[in-house]
Amino acid sequence: MSVEATLDPSAAAPQGPGGPLLKLSNVESYYGPILAIRGISLELARGQIVTVLGANGAGKTTILKTISGVLDPEKGAVELEGRPIQRMAPDRVVRLGISHVPEGREVFPFLSVLDNLRMGAFPRTDRDAVQRDLEKVFGYFPVLKERAHQPAGQLSGGQQQMLAIGRALLARPKVLLLDEPSLGLSPLLVKEIFKIIRRLNDEEGVSMLLVEQNAHIALETAHYGYVLEVGRIVMDGTCRDLMKSDDIQEFYLGMKQDDDRGTRRWKKKKTWR
Ligand SMILES: Nc1ncnc2c1ncn2[C@@H]1O[C@H](COP(=O)(O)OP(=O)(O)O)[C@@H](O)[C@H]1O
Ligand SMILES: [Mg+2]
Repeated sequence: MSVEATLDPSAAAPQGPGGPLLKLSNVESYYGPILAIRGISLELARGQIVTVLGANGAGKTTILKTISGVLDPEKGAVELEGRPIQRMAPDRVVRLGISHVPEGREVFPFLSVLDNLRMGAFPRTDRDAVQRDLEKVFGYFPVLKERAHQPAGQLSGGQQQMLAIGRALLARPKVLLLDEPSLGLSPLLVKEIFKIIRRLNDEEGVSMLLVEQNAHIALETAHYGYVLEVGRIVMDGTCRDLMKSDDIQEFYLGMKQDDDRGTRRWKKKKTWR
């Protein structure tokens, strides 16, 4: 491998030294009798951003809930640094190093911004380091410092997204799970938030699993990607390769082609079902 290829994160494969940080093998989860995700296998290497792309209802949130222990899988394994964590209680999963930024942010609206952030540090006893991390979060999101003493419910959608990310970072996670951070935000704010997401990865080395409907921004931000359709992974590759794929361009990036419109290549090849 050339030096250039080694230095280029978008060329990196999902495996890192010492095995994947997070690994899902054949995971299957239900809501009562309803099968939501099936045969989900994916890997996140240390230091990477991996994205899962999928339309509304594809199962993106279900994957994250299964990892964070909110939902117990019926089958399969979830491993953090080789250790099985499936069916563990959510607070234990946080203590082991996985923080979840949920869909729709879910900040505590009547608590101050500062108290919301402090909630994120609940598993920690190293108070001085928490204070330093708080300052670091304020460095990335200065508006949170300006509004530290306001109720979180008074923040705009974008600011609440920043707060939800900041709160998750205060647990000092090994893995950050991000559920559609672009949802409901203006294109300009989406750009701003994803720039910070990328910086947190570059500068702090935070590994992330990012699920998104917004394929444009997710493929620009992540290193490696999986495509989820109706609860199954139908395609994966480096984001650079996925961006070049005809199917991704046509169905996820909205770039029209004159010929062959309406048929997914992976369905033609019968690589699934
Ligand atoms: N609480 C629930 N009860 C029953 N079905 C659910 C529930 N949450 C999600 N589902 C179903 O599971 C599937 C996957 O949902 P979800 O993971 O939320 O998709 P996404 O996050 O990709 O939009 C969908 O068919 C959805 O209707
Ligand atoms: Mg969702």
